[in-house]
Amino acid sequence: MNYEDFFSIKDDWNLQIEGLKEEQFVHYGSNLLCGNGYLGYRGTLDEWDKEQYQACVITDTYDLADGKWKELSNSPNALTTELRVDGQKFGDYPEQDQMITELNFNYKYGIFRRKSKSKTVNDLEIVSERFASYDNLHLIANNYQISKIKKKKIELKLGINGDVWDLNGPHLENFKGEYDSQKNILYLKANTVESKIPLVTALSFKLIKGKIKNLKVENEKKSIYLLLNIEAEAEKIELERNMIVYSGNDRENPLSSAIKDAELTLELGYQKLKEKHQAVWDEKWKLMDIEIKGNLLDQLAVRFNLYHNIIAAPAHSEHLPIGARGLSCQAYQGAAFWDQEIFNLPMFLFTETETAKNILKYRYHTLNGARKKAKDLGYEGAFYAWISGKSGKELCPSFFFKDVISGRKIRNHFNDWQIHVSPDISYAIWNYYLASGDLDFVINYGAEILFEVARFLHSRIHFNQYKDQYEIIRLLGPDEYHENVDNNAFTNYQSQFALKKAIYFYYKMENEYPEKLQQLIEKIQLSESEVTAWQEISEKIYLPQPDQNNLIEQFDDYFDLEDTTAEVLENRLIDQEEYWGWPNGVAVFTQVIKQADIIQLFTLHDIFSEEVLTANYDYYEPRTQHGSSLSPSQYAVVAARLGRAEECYDYFKKSAFIDLMSTNKAVSGGTFIGGIHTAAAGGIWQLIVNGFAGMKIDKRGLSFKPVLCQDWKEVNFNLNYQDKKFKAVLGQNSFKLTAAVENNEILKFSVFEKEYTLKPGKEVKIKF
Ligand code: BGC
Repeated sequence: MNYEDFFSIKDDWNLQIEGLKEEQFVHYGSNLLCGNGYLGYRGTLDEWDKEQYQACVITDTYDLADGKWKELSNSPNALTTELRVDGQKFGDYPEQDQMITELNFNYKYGIFRRKSKSKTVNDLEIVSERFASYDNLHLIANNYQISKIKKKKIELKLGINGDVWDLNGPHLENFKGEYDSQKNILYLKANTVESKIPLVTALSFKLIKGKIKNLKVENEKKSIYLLLNIEAEAEKIELERNMIVYSGNDRENPLSSAIKDAELTLELGYQKLKEKHQAVWDEKWKLMDIEIKGNLLDQLAVRFNLYHNIIAAPAHSEHLPIGARGLSCQAYQGAAFWDQEIFNLPMFLFTETETAKNILKYRYHTLNGARKKAKDLGYEGAFYAWISGKSGKELCPSFFFKDVISGRKIRNHFNDWQIHVSPDISYAIWNYYLASGDLDFVINYGAEILFEVARFLHSRIHFNQYKDQYEIIRLLGPDEYHENVDNNAFTNYQSQFALKKAIYFYYKMENEYPEKLQQLIEKIQLSESEVTAWQEISEKIYLPQPDQNNLIEQFDDYFDLEDTTAEVLENRLIDQEEYWGWPNGVAVFTQVIKQADIIQLFTLHDIFSEEVLTANYDYYEPRTQHGSSLSPSQYAVVAARLGRAEECYDYFKKSAFIDLMSTNKAVSGGTFIGGIHTAAAGGIWQLIVNGFAGMKIDKRGLSFKPVLCQDWKEVNFNLNYQDKKFKAVLGQNSFKLTAAVENNEILKFSVFEKEYTLKPGKEVKIKF
């Protein structure tokens, strides 16, 4: 596939799309998303609405309108635009008949720019630009211009349209719109249907060029509009407008906040707002950017992915999850999976530590949801939700897929058997501790999670007295096609790790912070015998070992399953939309796996020899379908560790373009499946830093094992490690680490297992 079928490259930050294709509308909306972790405004034309998947997803607005699917709500659209030129409605869908449009997206500042030339009205041009502000998270600012107007009658219908696109809605009711003619502000109040969260959308606007000759207010059931007759000035009309959104979860009085911001933003004007917004991004990129020299397309793709991982994270809050599709649409319920800790988080761990902390604090605040889930299923401690919204209660329904052949519902056990999400969170806490050195967080928040996860594992695990070992039976690992398996290696190793870290911090606190430990023991009623039991389990848990061929079995008896490939299975499908997994799918009784599983174990734990890595990589690779966007980046990391730079690069191509060159159907089996794959986006950071640069972290500190693909001349990235800043430069045969002058300590690190020390302001350069 050629990228030029999808977009062209303007430069290393800017992507361009010329001539819009209808089958790509869903992807434009997601790929060209303006976002800031609070809201996500899809990349649609100003004149588009729900038919073309226009939406602005607002964080923290969970609503269960249909009694089945809790999801985030879409805000009414305050950038609604209807343009009439001499009475002819313009820019309406299908736009191809009327306009030639060029879209441009700037990933440095998240700026969507659209330029359309009329085919029907000679020379008439529309240029519109918008961004979701990082300076004021509630704001989307827009500059809209019409030029080359030759004595035409221009009518513009602006306003706030509450008739929005919803997957499982409608989520809004009780609309009330008002127009304040003094201030030029419109607002629309509503509330969510089931959760009753008030939501206010406001619009302020001013004409920079042109004169309003006539204005009429139009109230509809779910919307409020202004019909404007406008006289052009020097053949031009220029409009600045601000869309402001506040919910009742943000402020007690969202209306007054929205009006205040609407006024203020109008006063400041588009240019000033843009500068303030850009200044925030400039700061972010200082640590988060990755520069690729030698391949412009790859550079742009890397930034695309970094951008999307950043805007998916609600960095402003410690109470909200990163959705598997971020805020790009309502799919996957705006909720966190294990993706959050294992895929999205690593980038923040080594760049924006505060954001990493907030992500983990979210797991602390949702402990009660996890406790409830454990209790409901007959366990103790914290069993985290497979799909976790604001409260942490399980959002994953028991019936996720439908058998397309029989039409019957499939009882998948993602919600009750996919237990690795709990130890994955413990794993992330440990890594946060190593990367930040923030013991305070562990003592005040992390320890409680670690203890409750250990408690859960204790209650979930079985003792096999014949083998004198602990086992985890009836579960599913990362590979979701095989459910109801025993001793998934990934889960068993992760569980041992989680138990060990709980024990480690228990004794560390006992020695260093006995009072804090005592408080926590009392709070969660922890007994010493429990800790002794964790110790015994961690020593006697069954950890599948490499066999005579160095292979680790993914789960008990996996090697006895039919040995085949995904290509063979494709020919066995009766219907292309069939689900491949448990209980009856084509992959179930075969060794074909959906995604990295043993390989996922390797990316997280560096405890196996190179021979074992090689044997398993070569074995599992041809048996992996990569049916999940999470998979390629993890294979890439292990490929690089094996020195197979070109294979890592092939996986880069697979992973980095999942959304950029998406030909996936937007809707499958009646379910909308579009949106940004945020785990793949976060995976790109891992692929480069943990893969090509071979960075690992453990108690001894940072280590690197660099290797680089032929296509890239150089990679530059930044690290924030224990409050010290570093710049890394990876070349074809060299690796350089420079320490920021302001660092207050020497860094000890290793490259190819050789140790180095790095003083503030100095650099270490290694040739290989
Ligand atoms: C993957 C899971 C992942 C989920 C959300 C599924 O397709 O198999 O590993 O957590 O998508 O991204």
